[in-house]
Amino acid sequence: MPSSKIAGIGFYVPDQVVTNADLMKFMDTSDEWIQERSGIKERRYGRKGEETPTTMAAAASKVACERAGIKTNEIDFIIFATLSPDYYFPGCGVLLQRELGITNTEIGALDVRNQCSGFIYALSVGDQFIKSGMYKNILVVGAEMHSMGLDFTTRGRNVAVLFGDGAGAVVLQPTNEEGRGILTTHLHSDGTHAEELALISPGSHGGYHLKDVDFGFPDVELGEIFVYPNLLENKTYYPNMNGQLVFKNAVTKFPEVIFEALTKTGLSTEDIDLLVPHQANLRIAQFVQKTLKLPDDKVYNNIMKYGNTTAASIPIALCEAYEAGKVKEGDLICLAAFGSGFTWGSALIRW
Ligand code: UT7
Repeated sequence: MPSSKIAGIGFYVPDQVVTNADLMKFMDTSDEWIQERSGIKERRYGRKGEETPTTMAAAASKVACERAGIKTNEIDFIIFATLSPDYYFPGCGVLLQRELGITNTEIGALDVRNQCSGFIYALSVGDQFIKSGMYKNILVVGAEMHSMGLDFTTRGRNVAVLFGDGAGAVVLQPTNEEGRGILTTHLHSDGTHAEELALISPGSHGGYHLKDVDFGFPDVELGEIFVYPNLLENKTYYPNMNGQLVFKNAVTKFPEVIFEALTKTGLSTEDIDLLVPHQANLRIAQFVQKTLKLPDDKVYNNIMKYGNTTAASIPIALCEAYEAGKVKEGDLICLAAFGSGFTWGSALIRW
């Protein structure tokens, strides 16, 4: 059975830099608070109306394909992880296929909705398809355009200051080299706290609806939009987060799922050449680093520059580390993420 290797990697971030001082124009916050609590100095925002998760993903994918030595038309499966898709439906997978000019309809396109752990989930799905022999060139992408959906008033400051836009992509290919490529992936979920880090509306639970049938809907004209009072009152169209609860769970689950991967492969923390954690908060990454007793040069963080780009954060960080020469042939790379759902996961890769 082949394993899967990352044959090419690319990333894209918009050129529009938004500093903490820029955010202070809209909300009651400070550079000191943001840096002290999260490590973030600045983030990138896409140009509205020009850039979307799909266009950013396409830019990252082109680099990944070029580095893998394939034309975009040779991709036989697309897995797209995002929580901020261009459309409610269809998903970004098919939009990316079109954006890349892939006319081959033999391929499949799948969207993954696992937020912060989206890239690990997508990578794991791609890994299974490669191992089974079903596909040979899988494009795995994480892309987000958070800046379109944040509450930039003081009310939303605990969330808005954390997030940024960007995209990262890898091409997975089979390899028969023993002990190389993706060694193991581990996925977990616990829906108990689903609403503690969530964007509730739009959703079929009752937020707003186009009225077209009269089964219990309030009295509005057919075709009119009805907005539930709850939605306006609670602003459930913005993401909400119980930061402390997420933080507490993250610092436990990150190490747990990394140790799970190490145990499965008979490796130890000393074998890790580089840990690339999901960039949720520099404090979380530092906590994980301390628990694993890893030196500074074995952990890659870039949240300072880009904020939390959710499904894009791991491929962006991994690609930056790769471009900086921190990911070398034969290195053991550890990826791990935790976030909304809650969902969390890890992957060990022998580069
Ligand atoms: O990738 C998705 C997963 N997400 C995460 O992993 C995030 C995990 N959580 C966190 O990173 C942290 O909880 C935060 C960075 C979100 C918040 O840090 P915290 O130390 O937990 O702060 P807090 O929520 O307890 O808030 C402390 C104070 C509050 O004021 P009071 O009640 O003490 O007067 C907040 O209202 O800080 C206030 N606050 C802010 N002040 C200035 C919240 N946001 C801001 C802000 N600027 N942006």
